[in-house]
Amino acid sequence: MRIIEHAKALLLEGKLVAIPTETVYGLGADAKNPKAIQRVYAVKGRPTTNPLIIHIPNQDAMSDWAIDIPIEAYRLANAFWPGPLTLILKRNPCVPKIVTGGQETVALRVPNHSLTLELLHHFKGGIAAPSANRYGRISPTTAKHVQEELGQAVDYILDGGPCTVGIESTIVYMVDATPFILRQGHISKSAIEAIIKHQPLLHNETPTITVPGSSASHYAPTKPLYLLYRESLLERVRHCIEKNKSVCVLSFFEKPESLQGSPGVIDWVCLPLDPTIVARQLYHQLREFDKNESHCILVQEPPDAEAWLAIKDRLQRAARPED
Ligand code: TXA
Ligand code: MG
Repeated sequence: MRIIEHAKALLLEGKLVAIPTETVYGLGADAKNPKAIQRVYAVKGRPTTNPLIIHIPNQDAMSDWAIDIPIEAYRLANAFWPGPLTLILKRNPCVPKIVTGGQETVALRVPNHSLTLELLHHFKGGIAAPSANRYGRISPTTAKHVQEELGQAVDYILDGGPCTVGIESTIVYMVDATPFILRQGHISKSAIEAIIKHQPLLHNETPTITVPGSSASHYAPTKPLYLLYRESLLERVRHCIEKNKSVCVLSFFEKPESLQGSPGVIDWVCLPLDPTIVARQLYHQLREFDKNESHCILVQEPPDAEAWLAIKDRLQRAARPED
């Protein structure tokens, strides 16, 4: 396919190509080209100590980038690749240190998107790619988001349509005897536990591992976002309207009758109680809300159940603390 050949040629020249994946779009560069990688950090505005994920075509390529790979990592790769799972393994010395943010570990993932898999098979190397957004902002889930976010800074956008998962991959640290989940995602802790015999622990139980990308504020729109339970959310809507501050709302219930026609409510989107569907829509909706004339974004806390953990995590990082 011509677009694949074009993307491959650009990568070989050290250019930046935005790639579609099932989770979010990535800002891709040749993982073996330190100059291209340097540009990825610069375009994103991300510190070079915060490492990138290397996207590979299949499980067989793991050993090109990692060493001392534990059997359980192979088990997880078998079960979930191609798919929204990133494994942190011991770095193969051939991996440029700039990709791993200077760390002795490397992040690997086989993404589940036909165009990107085809590109990876043709390219033969690895594509290092963080999410294709400016540092700290919302990840893009369409080619248009990438264009709006990065404009001319990216050399080519491989348009693979809207991402089907919609939030970033689950990251599992597999370097020591005990695996850890460093970032929640579509693949849950119990799905991982069903495959490996060790209990993976959640990040807040693992104070000794540094997770560069886990700063509290992340995935954030430019206007304030408040995460609230149903009653507080309704109170906040009324309070904002009284103060002439317009709002937009993301909730699991319909806009109440009493607020119909209220000019202070710019938009009200009622979400289904289905985490798969919500994940797919979430970032697009937050981007839309960020563009309209409202003062702030009010989001209802999702239910307390494992299937919602990744969405809760992203919302908590996007939210402003109460002021
Ligand atoms: O779904 C995804 O994972 C998307 C798509 C494009 O694959 N990528 C993505 O990349 O979300 P990024 O860079 O936005 O987030 C990757 C996270 C960062 O928080 C980074 O710090 C962490 O992975 N990471 C990468 N290498 C690591 C390592 N060696 N040790 C610990 N954390 C690492
Ligand atoms: Mg990111």
